[in-house]
Amino acid sequence: MNSANRTNLRAYGELLARYVKPYSRQALALSVILLGGIGLSLLSPQIVRRFIDLAQAQADLRLLLYAALAYLAIGLTVRGMDVAVAYLGTNLGYATTNRLREDLARHLLGLDMEFQNSHTSGELIERIDGDVTSLTNFFSQFAVRLVGAFLLMAGVVLVMFITDWRVGLVMGLFAFGSLGLMVYLSRYAVHESEEERQANAELFGFVEERLAGLDEIRANGAGPYTMRRLYEIGRSWYERTTRAWKRRGSLWVFMMGFWGMASVLSLGLGILFYRQGVFTIGTVFMLQQYSMMLGDPIERISHQIQDLQKALAAIDRVRSLFALQPSISNGHGEHLPEGALQVQFDDVVFHYDDGDPDEPVLHHVSFQLEPGVTLGLLGRTGSGKTTLTRLLFRLWDPKAGAVRLAGQALPRVSLDNLRQRVGMVTQEVQLFEASLRDNLTFFDETIPDERVIAVIRELGMGAWFDGLEKGLDTMLPPGGGGLSAGEQQLLAFGRVFLQDPGLVVLDEPSSRLDPATEQRLEHAMDRLLQGRTGIIIAHRLATVQRVDEIMIMDQGVIQEHGRRADLVADRDSRFHQLLTAGLEEAFA
Ligand SMILES: Nc1ncnc2c1ncn2[C@@H]1O[C@H](COP(=O)(O)OP(=O)(O)OP(=O)(O)O)[C@@H](O)[C@H]1O
Ligand SMILES: [Mg+2]
Repeated sequence: MNSANRTNLRAYGELLARYVKPYSRQALALSVILLGGIGLSLLSPQIVRRFIDLAQAQADLRLLLYAALAYLAIGLTVRGMDVAVAYLGTNLGYATTNRLREDLARHLLGLDMEFQNSHTSGELIERIDGDVTSLTNFFSQFAVRLVGAFLLMAGVVLVMFITDWRVGLVMGLFAFGSLGLMVYLSRYAVHESEEERQANAELFGFVEERLAGLDEIRANGAGPYTMRRLYEIGRSWYERTTRAWKRRGSLWVFMMGFWGMASVLSLGLGILFYRQGVFTIGTVFMLQQYSMMLGDPIERISHQIQDLQKALAAIDRVRSLFALQPSISNGHGEHLPEGALQVQFDDVVFHYDDGDPDEPVLHHVSFQLEPGVTLGLLGRTGSGKTTLTRLLFRLWDPKAGAVRLAGQALPRVSLDNLRQRVGMVTQEVQLFEASLRDNLTFFDETIPDERVIAVIRELGMGAWFDGLEKGLDTMLPPGGGGLSAGEQQLLAFGRVFLQDPGLVVLDEPSSRLDPATEQRLEHAMDRLLQGRTGIIIAHRLATVQRVDEIMIMDQGVIQEHGRRADLVADRDSRFHQLLTAGLEEAFA
């Protein structure tokens, strides 16, 4: 075993200790039953011996009956124990791995945007669920089963030893020798099996691609060429597949032969000692049964050891995920004050990690907003408006300079508190496939229904709500289907209302809304901004007209910032020009 494997083995031990500990009673019950079952199955051949010897001695029929009943009872108990082990094992496996999944999911959610952007959802699902699923066995039964198989093997050999030391010695050497051989040979067909899977992938990939392009192939007369390629690929597939089967087959034949020899040996020894009068017929039979029992644990151990290789790889991936640390630290635990928040950008420079540091997205941005003021943020696409608001939420941290809320530098504020006190409505509202209530409260059960309903009415969606048969329990379809873009935006407003933040950031949708919805949105916006500081990335004139201050961004620089009334009055201002040129056209 190499050192990486050893580290992973230690990691496995640590994970096991952490996740199985809360279920130690279940794990204990599982072990007891598993080991008890092994003990019982060691008993059966003894009864068989007694039965045969009794029968041969023409003993009382009642004794025979007792022996048969005992055999039956043991058999049934062992089966019952198997069921209990399967039940407990599955339960334990899922309980423990679900906690691991939960922890991994939480950990990933806490990682910063840089990580989230560079990994697809598919990959993350595979890493949270796929890898962990392959560990289920290793979190519940693996250790016990491995130990159990060893114990069964050792137990059988021991019983044989007690029966007759010569038989025990021979069979013990055989058993442990073949176990070593099995483990040694377990890698014998691995390479060929991988080649076989690869050949399958190539063949099916080829067929699928050609089928998809059938029309093109026909139209271009590429039929004969394609058939020839198919023939070549098919031949390679045939060769690689047969090679893998031969390898696996020869391994199997070898092991079968080995076990055949063991059987013959134990039978031969038994007959020899029977002839010498050392063994009864029953003893010979019993030894034969024991020797047949040896094959099972040996095979199981070698399988488990092969699986362990795969599990160690999965553990390695789980470990490396846990090792990732967010670059956004969780603040110093300071809390922001109640009420509207003051906003301050102090010489902020920012570029995304994959961007060019010499051409930052935000270029020495400084400005200040007094509590309760609403700012309209304008600028061409790509000028850095959304980026600026992301820094307020600490989705990213600035590369230089500082962002402050109510005078506190953001890294000092606890992240939870920050995200509680800053409300954000993005351009694309994410609605979940969940009840209306959960979509609004974000699964916060402490918010009373009356408040949720009051907010819905306040948003002007009362009539819509009254039309819902199940009220707050109405399930929203995935992706907010059935709701217009404006209505989705209104629901997002509702979330912010319930959260009651001191700063509201609003990335207005640039798409056109119908006039009725637009009016509801404007009304809701007014209500939302009351008593709060607001930053609105505005796309519509109507929105621009209700803000107190205007800030125009251009290529990451503040081009203009001032009170709206002043800028409107100033004929030379950029804002004035924009208004004359027509806002929507200017940024189109
Ligand atoms: N997650 C990201 N990773 C890397 N670069 C980004 C990322 N988001 C934005 N950018 C880049 O940063 C620059 C500013 O983008 P930003 O989204 O802040 O502009 P915007 O003013 O909000 O534009 P729009 O009006 O189109 O929404 C753009 O050049 C953009 O390509
Ligand atoms: Mg934007």
